[in-house]
Parts: sequence; C-alpha cells; structure tokens
Amino acid sequence: MSDPMQINGDALLRVEKVYAGYQDFDILKGVSLHVNPGEIVCVIGPNGAGKSTVFKTIYGLLKVRKGRIQFDHQEITNWRPQAILKSGIAIVPQLRSVFPQMTVMENLEMGLYLERDKQRIKERIEYVFDLFPRLAERKDQMAGTMSGGEQRMLEIGRALLLEPKMVLMDEPSAGLAPLITRMIFQNIRRLNEEIGLTVLMIEQNARQGLEFSHRGYVLELGQNTYEGPSQELLANPEVRRAFLGGR
Ligand SMILES: Nc1ncnc2c1ncn2[C@@H]1O[C@H](COP(=O)(O)OP(=O)(O)O)[C@@H](O)[C@H]1O
Ligand SMILES: [Mg+2]
Repeated sequence: MSDPMQINGDALLRVEKVYAGYQDFDILKGVSLHVNPGEIVCVIGPNGAGKSTVFKTIYGLLKVRKGRIQFDHQEITNWRPQAILKSGIAIVPQLRSVFPQMTVMENLEMGLYLERDKQRIKERIEYVFDLFPRLAERKDQMAGTMSGGEQRMLEIGRALLLEPKMVLMDEPSAGLAPLITRMIFQNIRRLNEEIGLTVLMIEQNARQGLEFSHRGYVLELGQNTYEGPSQELLANPEVRRAFLGGR
C-alpha cells in the first residue's frame, strides 16, 4: 500500500471527521474520505446510512458542525453552494432533475444560464454532444419523453457543461433497469478514461458501483467503516456478507 499521508496530500477533495445533520440531530458522526484527481470513488452502505447527507454537506446544503472539507487546495467548509459550484464541484442529484417539458437543447442551455458568452455556450454544448452523440441526435426532443437512461446521460452532460474538476453523483443507477445501469456506469468509466473526470458517487447498487470504481468506502450509521481499493472491498468476506449479498 502507498503511504496514506502521501495520498491525502494530493487529494482533490478531502472530508475530515465531519459532523452534520438535521435539526439538533447529527446524522454524520465523524465521516472522513478523500478523492484523488482522476479517481472514481464509490460510497456504498445501507439505506439511511447518511450517504446523501454526505453529499449535501459537501455541497454546502447542510452546515458542517465539526470537522472540515477541503477541495482543490482550499478549505470550503460551510461555503455557499454557488461558491462550491464555482470552485469546480458539480452535482448530479439523486432525484430526476431534467426539465421534462423542455428539449434536450433547452435543458443544456439552462445548465449554462449564468454564462453570457454566446460563443462559449455553443462550445460547451458542442463538447457535451461530442461526449454523448445520443444527446445530439435528440437535441429537439422533450427531455421528459426520453428513457430513464437517456435522461441520466442528459443530467451528467449538463453537469459537465461548467467544466467541473469533480462530479458528485448520487445513485446514478437509481430507477434504471440493469442493462441501462451498466451503460451508465460504462459511460462514467469512459469519461474518466477519456477526459480524466474525477467522480465521487454513491451507489445503492453496491456491487456494480465497486466494479466500476477505483476505491470505495462503506458508510454505516453516519460513519465510514470500511475503505480501500474497490477490488479489495469486493473480495472482503465481511463486506461481501453485509453489503454485497455474498457469503
Ligand atoms: N431533510 C431531512 N430531515 C430530517 N432527517 C433527514 C432528512 N433527510 C434525511 N434525513 C435522515 O437522515 C438519515 C440519512 O439519510 P440519507 O443521507 O438520505 O441516507 P442514504 O442516502 O444513505 O440512504 C436518515 O435517517 C434520514 O431519515
Ligand atoms: Mg441517498
């Protein structure tokens, strides 16, 4: 194993012993994780463990009560979501977020609504169309009439418009059929290989999430319990028994 201090020193995102929650109640009780540049990192864990809460906290939607968060050599603890977005973190939320009554093109334009430079808007949308030719073919289709997998690709494409340094994806496979899930994971992997996209994803679908990531964390009751290279977690008997339906 490489020296963890070394890895931490180079991390793009570092969450350190973070406490956060709702009302007076802490859901996260000392969560620590990091993501190195160019990595796909997957957080797995049972329903209600606090996975989405970790994302909301990284994204500034919930207050960090203790601990800290660093991104790209800056401390971003308790920054506003808009500032965090600007610093280079994009998010694909757990719930469907396309505008169903707008076309694919209009959805992408909405993703750039703060951008004034027409030329740049055109270039960024072309960039996304190059990455997802399927979206280009359907640019005039109402987003709500596309399949679940295509809507997911649109959400991911929209997240890439702003040239993020990292994308947070909360359950990219949610609500998708197994074959489509595979296609989405393959696309995430392809983006990682082609453009070096750094990804932190949450997956309910633990086995596939680990198969398509470099490293993983298990989150239970607001604390991270296991971590390591995804292949090691997939092979770990305790992780298999508790989270992968293995024996
Ligand atoms: N807005 C909220 N207000 C109060 N409690 C919440 C809220 N959102 C989530 N929780 C609680 O926080 C815990 C963790 O939820 P969540 O982070 O969504 O879990 P996961 O994504 O791992 O399934 C759960 O017990 C859930 O009921
Ligand atoms: Mg969740």
